[in-house]
Amino acid sequence: MAVYQATASAPVNIACIKYWGKRDTKLILPTNSSLSVTLDQDHLRSTTTSRADPSFKHDRLWLNGEEEEIKDGGRMATCIAEMKRLRKEEVEDKQPNEPKLSTYPVHIASFNNFPTAAGLASSASGFAALVSSLAQLYQLPVSPSTLSVIARQGSGSACRSLFGGFVAWEQGTKPDGSDSLAVQVAPQSHWPDIHALICVVSDDKKGTSSTSGMQRTVETSPLLQHRIKHVVPQRMVDISKAILDRDFDAFAAITMADSNQFHAVALDTEPPIFYMNDVSRAIIALIVEYNRVSVAKGLGRKAAYTYDAGPNAVIYTKKENVKEIVELIVKYFPQKEGSFKDVFGLFGGADVAK
Ligand code: PMV
Repeated sequence: MAVYQATASAPVNIACIKYWGKRDTKLILPTNSSLSVTLDQDHLRSTTTSRADPSFKHDRLWLNGEEEEIKDGGRMATCIAEMKRLRKEEVEDKQPNEPKLSTYPVHIASFNNFPTAAGLASSASGFAALVSSLAQLYQLPVSPSTLSVIARQGSGSACRSLFGGFVAWEQGTKPDGSDSLAVQVAPQSHWPDIHALICVVSDDKKGTSSTSGMQRTVETSPLLQHRIKHVVPQRMVDISKAILDRDFDAFAAITMADSNQFHAVALDTEPPIFYMNDVSRAIIALIVEYNRVSVAKGLGRKAAYTYDAGPNAVIYTKKENVKEIVELIVKYFPQKEGSFKDVFGLFGGADVAK
């Protein structure tokens, strides 16, 4: 008997222009466009195996070996239902001899090789890997942008992990969300020189989830309205140009400004949300000083920090500076409890430094 099973993996992406705020919470439509870099090495990935079998009783899911409930009407159920719908419409309705996999229950097992929900975007790689494995299982003849529309309904930022390199999530305007999708701005090969250093300040589970944090910000922050209307649209244009021109100084300036504004918007929320801690802020001070010296020498900015919904720093830099920055961080943040724990290079083939 035929076995219908497929495995796919997807990496984490780290936003330079942050997504923060939903205009539709069910479809996960954002209040602004965003742009990220997909990390390409093996450290931060989700790997998912999906299997369809008519003898299974119902859909089931295991995350890191533990079974999780698939809640009716929840995000996981929505993604699975959407993928089955695509299988029916794109394959079974057009080729009646194909097996009716859309009617079989699926069993799905997913593993992250990094701490879940520690501000390291585990939901992004998780839903991207889920959608990719089902797309393979169902042999869907559709583009990554089409799949990104479905991954988006699992976790907004997941839509960007369907592509490698530099990826924009266009917010779209249609109420059904069909144009709120990811597109590749440039492949990694366009600018392979860019590396990301992840400084794991804490791998604890984060305090305020992105879902509840965003909702509170949308409801209470006047600064968010300014950001959506007057800041992000121009930044999307400017950072895309910086990437296409391989202009690191501009890329770094925009990335840091947008991280700062995202955390300002979190602070502007009622009650306020604090994602960074003292170590996060000390890393910012270090990068600011590092850039000040470099700019004074006429070399422009050499590093860019960015923080998501947690205290961990991601530092973008060019390959030639990776060693120097790792040495600086290790010097100023010796490893001790509650402090900097780990740093490793990821994007563009950097060596692992510990
Ligand atoms: O997709 P979510 O719900 O995990 O939200 C991600 C939000 C940020 O990581 C803070 C920003 C981003 O664009 O990834």
